Amino acid sequence: MSGEGDGTVVRRDRFSGGPARSFLSSMGADHRIFAADLAVDRAHVVMLAEQEIIDDGEAATILSALDDVEEAGFDALPDGEDVHEAIETAVVERVGRVGGKMHTARSRNDEVATCIRCRLREDLLAAVDAVLALRGALAEVAEAEAETVMPGYTHLQPAQPTTVAHWALSYEGTLARDTGRLLDAFDRANESPLGAAAFAGTTFDVDRERTADLLGFDGVVANSMDASASRDFLLEAVAALSSVAVTCSGLAEDVVLFANRGFVELDDDYSSTSSIMPQKKNPDTLELVRATAGDAVGAYTSLATTLKGLPRAYNRDLQRATPHAWQAADDVTDAAEVAAGAVATAEWPAEELAAAAGEGFSTATGVADALAAAGMPFRTAHEIVALAAEQSEAADGSNALPESHVDDGVSGVSGEHSADLVAVDAAAREVTGEPLSALADPEVVAAALDPATNVAQRDSAGGPAPDAVRAALDDVRASLAADERAIADREAALAAAVDDLAAEVASYE
Ligand code: ARG
Repeated sequence: MSGEGDGTVVRRDRFSGGPARSFLSSMGADHRIFAADLAVDRAHVVMLAEQEIIDDGEAATILSALDDVEEAGFDALPDGEDVHEAIETAVVERVGRVGGKMHTARSRNDEVATCIRCRLREDLLAAVDAVLALRGALAEVAEAEAETVMPGYTHLQPAQPTTVAHWALSYEGTLARDTGRLLDAFDRANESPLGAAAFAGTTFDVDRERTADLLGFDGVVANSMDASASRDFLLEAVAALSSVAVTCSGLAEDVVLFANRGFVELDDDYSSTSSIMPQKKNPDTLELVRATAGDAVGAYTSLATTLKGLPRAYNRDLQRATPHAWQAADDVTDAAEVAAGAVATAEWPAEELAAAAGEGFSTATGVADALAAAGMPFRTAHEIVALAAEQSEAADGSNALPESHVDDGVSGVSGEHSADLVAVDAAAREVTGEPLSALADPEVVAAALDPATNVAQRDSAGGPAPDAVRAALDDVRASLAADERAIADREAALAAAVDDLAAEVASYE
């Protein structure tokens, strides 16, 4: 039976566009929801038959036509304003007027909202997967580089020594919250609008819970006008994706800066060369990760601006809202995957990092802490060390030490940082009138001047001391495992729904 043969058309040609036809069409973006639409059609047809809105034979006919349409693929669809209309036309072409029963008790408005939510669930889980890969790579770095001392910065100025592990876990922590945001977005997207029809419900006795269940949704969007009109779930998803992109952009920027200083060696797979300068090895992949934040925030802005001020219920503006979410999902997932690969394969040259870690008197805070721990008011300690830092900066290059203090209280302490110790002694005398040895144990102060010891002493919870990082790493591993389970549970629920729907469909064939 042919749809054309018995004169069936999905809709008459009125309003089909003319010169505006391609402008009206969403076919260019709808391949993304082709599989989702077939699932939505099947669930809807099964429910219509169960509710005796159509009979089982009609359902079987439509369901087999849908198999055929799926087999032929998206590119074989007839011309249509969108994938929903094109699939319906393809069904009617195959089975004639009975195919027109598929669209009973629904509208493209609830249909498209359901398709978008179905597809978005998969995209969000893919994004979470990529973020987990990046978090896993950062945890590996933390494990391997717990003792690798490096400079830490504020205002891009050397601030305090830290470790590569502590740096890595700082991004893992942010990405753990980003993971939570993506999972939240998943859970709120995971409600079915189907059965809302255009916006105002339907006279047919539809079972919305049943189609929700067949499609693996946790429940339904209760209000039918809300169900058809709302896209806040898209905005939330893109906000969560933007947050991931912003986090990754900071990480990428750090790595670009570290590469500039020779603090990190990127694998060749994640580097690029210059077409003219033969010696160049550039961190291009990380620069592109950094740039992705612009795309994601752009998508968010486009989406929010499109949604802003839309009246209830459905408006065609929504058609242009959706692709922003697809773009953001693809871009951010790709960026997180590339960042994961770059982090997993990077080398951290310990010697260069250790040498740089003490630059710019960045042990100063630890020295002030050591003086304060010996009983001095922290403000006085701060003043002494600030003066010592100034003097040591002035002495840099000449290495001239204040002669009169060399043999007085600190001369017994030798080592790499003895010049700085002398500067602290001189400053102590200037500020308090007393030598350092009268105020604190010079050995303790000397230890604080050593970047590795300085780091090891900052063992407060969440701090950079190797022991603190190892303790934090246990929590990180637990949270990674919990998030892996969260994805696996959601994937399993979706897969189970796919199987259930397939079994229901098969029972009609
Ligand atoms: N392609 C449309 C979209 O993406 C489907 C819904 C069309 N509905 C309508 N009333 N014109 O939003």
